[in-house]
Amino acid sequence: MESGLPRASTIDNPTRLAVMISGGGSGLAALLEYQLSEKRCHRTVLVLADSTLAGGLEHGRSNGIRSLGIPLPIEKDKSEQRLAHERLVHDELVSADVEMVVLSGYMRILTPWFVGLWKGRLLNIHPSLLPDFPGAHAHRDVLAAGVGLTGCTVHLVDERVDSGPILAQRQVEVKPDDDESTLQERVKKIEHILYPETLDRYCSGQISP
Ligand code: GRF
Repeated sequence: MESGLPRASTIDNPTRLAVMISGGGSGLAALLEYQLSEKRCHRTVLVLADSTLAGGLEHGRSNGIRSLGIPLPIEKDKSEQRLAHERLVHDELVSADVEMVVLSGYMRILTPWFVGLWKGRLLNIHPSLLPDFPGAHAHRDVLAAGVGLTGCTVHLVDERVDSGPILAQRQVEVKPDDDESTLQERVKKIEHILYPETLDRYCSGQISP
């Protein structure tokens, strides 16, 4: 698989997606429900997690989709460990003929090697209005900053964290009595609509970076 723009897919020849998760996978569940409710121009053929214990793997399995946890291999050298892990991930993606990789709550930072292989076909959703509040604690940072508006962003992944061309964003109000948990839940509801719809538009060639 070479990097570059994806082919323009149709409902008769949908883009083959892999979804990568780390946790409960509510975004994965929403995407699968969307894909299974009617014919779409993308379908999930593989679910990968960075742990065999990731609860979200069950969403894939219960829908008959190959779903597996690939933990970090045991290597002394940390950068070799990351690369060895990504080689295992990449091998699974290639074996499943995956055309596009959808990060959905995947909590590992990918190396430039992996990003380079999948550039243009590697998407992420982040729970803030990027470029504001990148990083692993977006909701906490939003609340600490006291802003009245947050949201979510679907973007192509580049070599930096929560960076890369933005494909879509949607705003969400921050309420005065919000805590991290209430804000996360409200933003997730919007993520669950925005990500599948953005995939429709990106896979079918209606939007480009
Ligand atoms: C989502 O808010 C996503 O934007 C962020 O991690 C969360 C994943 O939630 N990167 P879930 O595992 O899909 O429930």
